Amino acid sequence: MASRIRTLEEYHAAYQQAAEHPDMYWGNVAEEFTWRKKWDTVRGGEFSPAGTSTWFEGATLNITENCLDRHLATRANKLAIIFEPNDPKDRHTRLTYRELHEQVCQMANVLLNNGVKKGDRVVIYMPMIPELAVTTLACARIGAVHSVVFAGFSASAIADRVNDAEASFVVTADGLNRGAKQIPVKSVVDDALLTCPSVRGVLVVEHTGWPVQMKEDRDIWFHDEVRNVAKACPAVEMAAEDPLFILYTSGSTGKPKGVVHTQAGYMVWAQYTFQNVFQVEENDIYWCTADIGWVTGHTYLLYGPLLSGSTSLLFEGVPTYPSPGRFWEVIDKHHVSIFYTAPTAIRSLMAAPLDHVLAYSLSSLRVLGSVGEPINEEAWHWYHQHVGKGRCPIVDTWWQTETGGIMISALAGITPSVPARAGLPLPGVQPVLLSQEGTELEGNDQEGYLAIKASWPGVIRTTWGDHERARQVYFQPYPGYYFTGDGARRDEQGLYRIIGRVDDVINVSGHRFGTAEIESAINESPDVVESAVVGYPHDVKGQGIYAYVICRNGLPDNDLDRQRVEGSIIEAVVAHIGRIAKPDKIQLVSGLPKTRSGKIMRRILRKVAEGETSNLGDTTTLLDPLVVEEIVAGKK
Ligand code: PRX
Repeated sequence: MASRIRTLEEYHAAYQQAAEHPDMYWGNVAEEFTWRKKWDTVRGGEFSPAGTSTWFEGATLNITENCLDRHLATRANKLAIIFEPNDPKDRHTRLTYRELHEQVCQMANVLLNNGVKKGDRVVIYMPMIPELAVTTLACARIGAVHSVVFAGFSASAIADRVNDAEASFVVTADGLNRGAKQIPVKSVVDDALLTCPSVRGVLVVEHTGWPVQMKEDRDIWFHDEVRNVAKACPAVEMAAEDPLFILYTSGSTGKPKGVVHTQAGYMVWAQYTFQNVFQVEENDIYWCTADIGWVTGHTYLLYGPLLSGSTSLLFEGVPTYPSPGRFWEVIDKHHVSIFYTAPTAIRSLMAAPLDHVLAYSLSSLRVLGSVGEPINEEAWHWYHQHVGKGRCPIVDTWWQTETGGIMISALAGITPSVPARAGLPLPGVQPVLLSQEGTELEGNDQEGYLAIKASWPGVIRTTWGDHERARQVYFQPYPGYYFTGDGARRDEQGLYRIIGRVDDVINVSGHRFGTAEIESAINESPDVVESAVVGYPHDVKGQGIYAYVICRNGLPDNDLDRQRVEGSIIEAVVAHIGRIAKPDKIQLVSGLPKTRSGKIMRRILRKVAEGETSNLGDTTTLLDPLVVEEIVAGKK
């Protein structure tokens, strides 16, 4: 296969060819897929500054024919999905490629019978159960644009996404169990839809059996609908640049934006990166622990593995339930050979007694992966030694919702894997480090803003309903480049080390939040006048959320009052975003450090939150320097 890299020499050759002859290189890779019609041009559009890249323009296809139909001749009885439920006492289930194909077709027919058409947006808010994968693929089968919302976001966050996407249909379930937590997802959706006029129908999958309210003329049970549909459903022919999905992610300003990926480029990038980074073989059992509600779940639980005809494990639960040995138990139980998780999970499991790992053989493991945030050296070594038993290469994969798939990473066992380094760029990815002024920093041993020089098949196409926003955020800051928002270092060997965000985005347990987004949620509390949120180093989460808040009635003078105000702040965040964005520390203050022009000096707030109070830099330009003293004295 043109796309498969198996040695270091092949990597270098592929890298060079993709850089010098991208049309030829990606044209060859694309030959491996099933097309209804081949492309006229491989690469087109204006990458920058207009941000209108196109890939495989003129081609038509359906991604589910590539994920499912094309495997039926040779892999019909191969497992496509292994489902491991939240509670280990419940039975796990398995779906072969033939069964998954049938279920996707049935779900597609249910959607069609309920009026969902090509181009419609469908919001999916579901537990991590096979029906979530099935629904997502069913949308792609009929050309509806899926927008999966992680089932941890609040009703108000769902409503924001539904309204921004003008979704006409929602698919959900009655409830979900995540570890010891229970979430009545259907009733969360009901609350959200009170303010969503575009939604005409809600399909409900029965999962927990909890009672739910069904709204007449809107809500329908999947188990009623599925009885009347066929097990075959023709795939709708899509143009290469038709949208495939919208996935909302946070930026440094405003509301979360709907990142749009399209059919052909995303498909090629998902399969190519999956196969090469993890060095996947036919009999691998692959497990990505991310939820399908995040981009990692989209590309590396669902599309990448299924495009490749691999077996993908889908886990409903959390790493620590019912014990911190759960991940390792599941690996042994299902003979997982490739395991992909987040540093935050590794750090939380490192904190548990080592016996939880030592109790399992983990002998099936071959490759380990990490994603979502920088992996610190201690976690890298623990993962390598205790999980990989010193014999499994670790791939530390750097990428973003906007990049569609992995950009900088070792290829397992082929290119260098060094602790705390993402490593070398994949073929097709041309990273550069820029100075603040936008000049390229040449050579090794350099640090700067990470940007990408040329288009790649998985690049973000637009932000839903607002192309100008995409252009301004990604393509305008440094004309000629895609700007990542990350800072990075290129070491002496040319390996990249990602340092972290250089904008007002914080990365909490591998999840992205804009500080402005959390502040506006906090400000919804009736007790709050103003707030400022910054990130600070957190042992398990990577970054924690530190909120400085000015109260409406001045500083509380007793503990009870303080607790009440803090409670109302947390409540506001849980209501407007979800429990995942709850501040770790709240400091009530009487003022915020502002410049004379009214700008909050976040630099100072960050330093205080990090505990670096001895070196706050110049505070003379502040409107009220005394505020800083108060803040330092009251640090949490
Ligand atoms: O800061 C980088 C960090 O996560 C951001 C992207 O977040 P999101 O779009 O939610 O996607 C997460 C999963 C791909 C990046 O800008 N990040 C992601 N992976 C790594 C990372 N930072 C360091 N090392 C990584 N491997």
